[in-house]
Amino acid sequence: MSSDQPHIPAPTVTVTDNRTGSSVDLPIVSSSHGASGIDVRPLQKSLDLLTFDPGFMSTASCRSAITYIDGGAGLLWYRGYPIEQLAEKSSFLEVSYLLLSGELPSAPHLDRFRDLITQHTMVHEGVLKFYHGFRHDAHPMAILLGVVGALSAFYPEAMEVSDPACRMTSAYRLIGKMPTLAAGAFKYLRGEPFIYPDDSLGYIENFLRMMFALPAAPYRINPVMVRAMESIFILHADHEQNASTSTVRLAGSSRVNPFATISAGISSLWGPSHGGANEAVLHMLQQIGDVKNIPQFIARAKDRNDPFRLMGFGHRVYKQYDPRARIIRKHCMELLDELDVRGQPLFKTALELERIALEDDYFISRQLYPNVDFYSGIILKALGIDTSMFTVIFVLARTAGWIAQWMEMIAEPDQRIGRPRQIYVGQTQRDYVPLAAR
Ligand code: CMC
Repeated sequence: MSSDQPHIPAPTVTVTDNRTGSSVDLPIVSSSHGASGIDVRPLQKSLDLLTFDPGFMSTASCRSAITYIDGGAGLLWYRGYPIEQLAEKSSFLEVSYLLLSGELPSAPHLDRFRDLITQHTMVHEGVLKFYHGFRHDAHPMAILLGVVGALSAFYPEAMEVSDPACRMTSAYRLIGKMPTLAAGAFKYLRGEPFIYPDDSLGYIENFLRMMFALPAAPYRINPVMVRAMESIFILHADHEQNASTSTVRLAGSSRVNPFATISAGISSLWGPSHGGANEAVLHMLQQIGDVKNIPQFIARAKDRNDPFRLMGFGHRVYKQYDPRARIIRKHCMELLDELDVRGQPLFKTALELERIALEDDYFISRQLYPNVDFYSGIILKALGIDTSMFTVIFVLARTAGWIAQWMEMIAEPDQRIGRPRQIYVGQTQRDYVPLAAR
């Protein structure tokens, strides 16, 4: 830069503590699109103040170039590509490549990626033995988070998280093995024999076969199911810094191996406020039972003294219709027509609930629209998949995003262990009172 160019000061925000009059300039962290941030790191040193943001409603925990959401405008991009285009034109493996590498693959690169994933579909026989240690009625999510964490014991070299090649091998292993592990949990639930992967099949076809094939009968892959599953997988592949992804980043920041890290993400996703919502939607629809009972449940959802919420409605970030919900709703309606099940009580209840909630002032004023899990729950039910598998299917899809986020975090040059602070509101120092004197 020549010396006669005017010096443009870096943008800052000044924070003044009105109690003392002291102030500090905080640098602005620029975004490529959407909200920029304030670097609050100098706050504590200069003013002895911390930021307070329960639920992280206004906190950017990292810089990320993977996924962009504008909740107000209802936008979702993976690496800059709108979700609508990817859902219509792409495949789940192509989207996984995009999330991991940052670019869409060329045809030879996609073939190579598919081969690398396919090489890793088998799991060690020792892993299969774990399944039989679970209770016969164990929830498949409980099994999945256990066996994914247990993979750490089979790949000790994965501890080398500083080695990019080693991280990539773990990524292929996790994406390749997740369908095998998930289908294994389903087979155990049904008391059926495990089905080994067939590497001649596509990713989704293979998963469906491992779930539904039986050794005694030929298995025909249903293209309706493959299409529905491909769309669910693409729509769920990543969603920036949600609870499970933040869990993955925080767990992984201690540089623990990726199998333990992803197992932590699975635990977080399981909750009904997050990925467990698709299963909760079905339980709610069954609880409502009939269209005539809907007003009573809507009244309960509005009652502040009743903890009941309409599952599958509302979103922390989207204050517009969730763009994923818009896409998946279309698939959902087509599927219900194709399977001719719209008239069945459960689907009738779902569609009527959607209609009423979209017209009700309580939901409109709070911008509580049906979310992606409302429709994915209905689709998976219409496909005859056991309700307890719904969140497992979410895990399969989100594994790609979690790994991309974990790799981005580990590769940050100034990566440090995540360590939030707190505002202490407990007792100040006091002296121990002997038991006899209390
Ligand atoms: N039913 C009834 N009322 C609701 C609902 C709902 N599903 N969601 C939010 N509200 C009300 C809430 O009671 C509050 O009302 P008020 O202002 O009168 O106190 C207002 O809406 C704002 O709610 P909030 O709890 O501050 O919103 P949040 O951003 O913290 O929560 C949410 C987001 C997704 C956890 C919540 O909407 C919810 O519990 N929804 C049902 C569970 C669900 O479907 N979760 C899946 C989310 S999408 C998949 C994913 O990304 O994981």
